[in-house]
Amino acid sequence: MRRLSTIVASVGHDTSPAGSAWVSVALSFQGLKALGVPQESLNSFPPEFQQGMAARAKELGDTGESAPEKWEKPLGTPDVHIALIALSPNIQQLESELDRARKTYQELNGIKAIWRQDCYASANGKEPFGFRDGISHPAVEGSEIPGTNPREQPLKAGEFVLGYKDEIGGYAPMPQPEILGRNGTYVVFRKLHQRVAAFRKYLKANSSRPEEEELLGAKMMGRWSSGAPLALCPQHDDPELGADPKRNNDFLFKDTDPKGFLTPLGSHIRRMNPRDTLGDRTIVNLHRMIRRGTNYGPPLREGVLEDDGVDRGLMFAFVGAHLRRQFEFVQSEWVNDGLFVGAKDEKDPIAGANDEVESRFTVPRHPVRRCLLNLPRFVVTRGGEYCFMPGIRAIRWLAELNT
Ligand code: HEM
Repeated sequence: MRRLSTIVASVGHDTSPAGSAWVSVALSFQGLKALGVPQESLNSFPPEFQQGMAARAKELGDTGESAPEKWEKPLGTPDVHIALIALSPNIQQLESELDRARKTYQELNGIKAIWRQDCYASANGKEPFGFRDGISHPAVEGSEIPGTNPREQPLKAGEFVLGYKDEIGGYAPMPQPEILGRNGTYVVFRKLHQRVAAFRKYLKANSSRPEEEELLGAKMMGRWSSGAPLALCPQHDDPELGADPKRNNDFLFKDTDPKGFLTPLGSHIRRMNPRDTLGDRTIVNLHRMIRRGTNYGPPLREGVLEDDGVDRGLMFAFVGAHLRRQFEFVQSEWVNDGLFVGAKDEKDPIAGANDEVESRFTVPRHPVRRCLLNLPRFVVTRGGEYCFMPGIRAIRWLAELNT
C-alpha cells in the first residue's frame, strides 16, 4: 500500500505519477480484512459491501448461467483482495508499466496476481453489439468537468465521493475512521460476456429488411449504432449527430415523448436514466452512476451470425458513494424489473436476465404497439466484485497498519 500511495493519481494530478499509465487501486472487504483493518472499522462498511458481490446474486439477477457457481475463478471467492486498474494509451506502454509492477510485487511476500483481464477502447468507440458507448455521464458539482447533457444539473459530489453532501442534503454512511472513509468511493466491477451472434440473429429473425433490423436494435438501445439518440432522430441513423458531443446527449423525454413512441420506455438508455420521465428529477438523481464500459475479446466479424465460441464482452465499472441505492437499485429495479415503466414482466432488452421463454419487449407504435417475444439473454455475468477505492490519505493510513 505504501508503494501504491506514490503511484496512484489524485484529482490534482495533470500527469500520472506512475509514468505512462494511470493506476487506480480498490480493495474488496476480504482485502481490507487481510490487510488487518481493525474489526470495528470493518463493521462500519455497509452490509452489502461486507457480503461481496457473489452473495448478492439474487438481488442482482445473477442466476442460472450468470450464477456465481459458474463464474470465472477466482472471481466470487474470498481470494480476491485487491483490484489494480492500469490504463495506458497503448499496449507497449501498458506492458512496460506492468513489467515494472510485476517486479515490485514479486519481491513482496504474500502478494500474488491471481487474475488479469485485458480490455481496450475500440477505435470507433463501439461496444461489442455495435453501439457507440461512453456518451452519457452525469456532471459532478465542483469537478469543473462539463456535463454531457446541458439540460441536466450537476449532481452533488457526495453522490460519488464519500465525505461530501449528497442529493438529499446528507452524507453517505462513511467507513470509519474518517481518514479511511473520506474521499473514498465504491467501485463495482463486472465481467459481462456478450452474445453478439445471438443478438444479431434475434434482430434478423424479427425484421423483414436490414433497415428494420437497425431500427429494432435502436429501439432496444434507445440510440442508433452511431450513438445518435432516437429522441432526436427517430427515423434513421445520423452518424454526424452520433459523433457530436454537443448534441448527442442534449434531450429529455417527458414533454416530447412521454409514452415512448420515439424512445421506448423499456429501452436500455431510458431504463438506465429515465431523465424527467418519472416526473420528479430528484428521484432519478438518487440512482445515477459514474460508469465505464471497456471491451474485452476480439470483435465478432461484421455479418457473422454464428457464435464462434470466443469470449467477448465488456468490463463494466460503476463508481458511486451508495452501492445499494445506486448500483443495486438500478440493477434490480431498472435492469431486471419493469414495474416502473408499467411493464412488470419486462426486463432490459440488452442487459436484462431474460430467459427466451417468457421474456418480451414492448415497442410503442401507432396504431398498435409491437410486442417482441422470446427474448433470449444476450449478456451473461462471468464474475465481479464490490470494492472500496480509498483516497490517497487512506492508502497511506492502510500502509501504516500494524499487521
Ligand atoms: C453488456 C451490457 C451492456 C451494454 C452492451 C451496454 C451498452 C450501453 C450503451 C451502448 C449505452 C449508450 C451510450 C451512452 O449513453 O453512454 C449505454 C448507456 C448506459 N448504460 Fe449500459 N450497457 C450494458 C450494461 C449496463 C449495466 C449493467 C448498467 C447498470 C447497472 C448500465 C448502465 C448504463 C447507463 C447508466 C447508461 C447511460 C444512460 C443515459 O444516461 O442515457 N449498462 N449502455
